[in-house]
Amino acid sequence: MSNESDVKELLSLVTDAREYLSYLRELGVEGLDVTSAEQPLQELSETDKRLEAALPSSSQRAALERNAAAVERASVEKISETDSLKSPALPASLAGASSSNVDETEMATRKKKFPDEVPPAPQETLFGEVTPQDIESLPRADEMLEDIWNDIGVCMRCPLCCQGRSKVVNSEGNRKARLMFVGEAPGADEDAQGRPFVGRAGQLLNKIIEAIGMSREDVFIGNVNRCRPPQNRTPTTQEAAICKPFLLREIAIVRPDVIVVLGNTAMKNLLDTKEGITKLRGKFQDYRGIKVMPTFHPAYLLRDPSKKREAWDDMKKVRDYLKGRSQKAE
Ligand code: URA
Repeated sequence: MSNESDVKELLSLVTDAREYLSYLRELGVEGLDVTSAEQPLQELSETDKRLEAALPSSSQRAALERNAAAVERASVEKISETDSLKSPALPASLAGASSSNVDETEMATRKKKFPDEVPPAPQETLFGEVTPQDIESLPRADEMLEDIWNDIGVCMRCPLCCQGRSKVVNSEGNRKARLMFVGEAPGADEDAQGRPFVGRAGQLLNKIIEAIGMSREDVFIGNVNRCRPPQNRTPTTQEAAICKPFLLREIAIVRPDVIVVLGNTAMKNLLDTKEGITKLRGKFQDYRGIKVMPTFHPAYLLRDPSKKREAWDDMKKVRDYLKGRSQKAE
């Protein structure tokens, strides 16, 4: 190395390499041969002579090459992880899994930027404080139900995305419903069909609705969580908190007169209470101007039919309240 500018260029390359290595270490890229590659870099000094001596030896060059290969591998894995969001070879649980018609390229783009995004701060909305996972979790002015379902997309926000879910189960029903039902999370039938309450518990819910003189077409039905938990386990507090903003947005659009919360999990998550269903069932709660009636979950009624009487008492109160309101409005 005789030319001074060559030496300077080399020095700058070596400095770049050192910064790159420490950046990779921060990222936790595995497989870096840091010790052997970094050692000579620390010994660099101002003089050309020492620079000459600091040139990477063949073993050090090999280490640098291994590091470069490790970086290459890591970035290829990252890219294919992102691509897998739209890959047709993906298991049905992820590819095209949504019941909404979100543009998959758009979703992939969103998810690509997701790891760099700082989640927005908790926000107060018309129907409660939400802890948004991303900007798409937040309500927008004059939104429609379709906007919410598009924002949900092939949701990857919580662990339930990737534990056997087939379809995201969005709420459904009458957009002008006076009565809304909120359950816990989809079961196997709902997961397969992408619709809420279509299994055995759903059949019983239909009967409950008919018993108060309404039909399924009159009401709006949703769940706190939209993805089926494995083995139908109860969604965690975190999973519920991530999904809840979308339910609150739907409530703000439908604005029912009454929400019936079905079972402990739905009640606790919507009302933010630590009380149990046995204590609160049958007693109207006021939730930001909307009456909320906690009652037993139909799946629980299937397991213990003796509780149907209490559930029927609760539903009669709902029926009477709705009747009273419409008479006032006439
Ligand atoms: N149980 C629920 O809580 N929700 C459904 O959609 C089905 C069963």
